[in-house]
Amino acid sequence: MTASINEHIEARRAKRALSTEPVSQKEVELLIQAAHLAPSCFNNQPWRFVVIDDPQILQAVKETMPKGNYWTAPAPVIIAVTSQRDLDCTLSDHRDYVLFGCGMAVGNLMIQATQLDLVAHPIAGYNPVGVKEILGIPEDYTLITLIIVGRPGDASQLSDQHREIELGPRDRKPLSEVMARNRYAFSG
Ligand SMILES: Cc1cc2nc3c(=O)[nH]c(=O)nc-3n(C[C@H](O)[C@H](O)[C@H](O)COP(=O)(O)O)c2cc1C
Repeated sequence: MTASINEHIEARRAKRALSTEPVSQKEVELLIQAAHLAPSCFNNQPWRFVVIDDPQILQAVKETMPKGNYWTAPAPVIIAVTSQRDLDCTLSDHRDYVLFGCGMAVGNLMIQATQLDLVAHPIAGYNPVGVKEILGIPEDYTLITLIIVGRPGDASQLSDQHREIELGPRDRKPLSEVMARNRYAFSG
């Protein structure tokens, strides 16, 4: 077999065109199980997921979105990822591993979603104070991301800019800008 990129890693995109079609509880459970299989420092498992599928709570969360995240409106499920620094390793040289651990869990979740033909798109653009209040997340916890979950929809509902990204090629820096051999050799 020739070496190749994992097909679900290759296929995953931060899709914005969503349908309102429901996502089953079983599918959501598989997403969370995949996330929970991620490695973590000392096996601390620092991730905490709040699955939002109640229509009223979903609506309240969506109302906090800035204009640019208008495309989240049809999503039948949103998963809030939250944690707190003390739930994971904190080493003396400012290495706080909580975001790293939660990021790996979200990575697993996205790949699992791709395998299930679901969209799982993490966002940073939301009102963290408002969403934490709606969900009852303690003040000293960080709301790291909201993962917008749904089934792929019609790109005609997107803005021109988002439609172009949705249907366009993957945008990545050349490997030479992010990988060096044996010595740090980057200009920026
Ligand atoms: C932490 C994080 C925050 C993001 N926030 C937003 C967001 O608020 N709105 C949005 O439309 N996309 C958001 N994205 C999606 C990125 O724009 C997208 O992943 C990136 O452009 C690369 O595209 P690709 O995932 O399709 O390869 C976010 C992605 C990550 C990982």
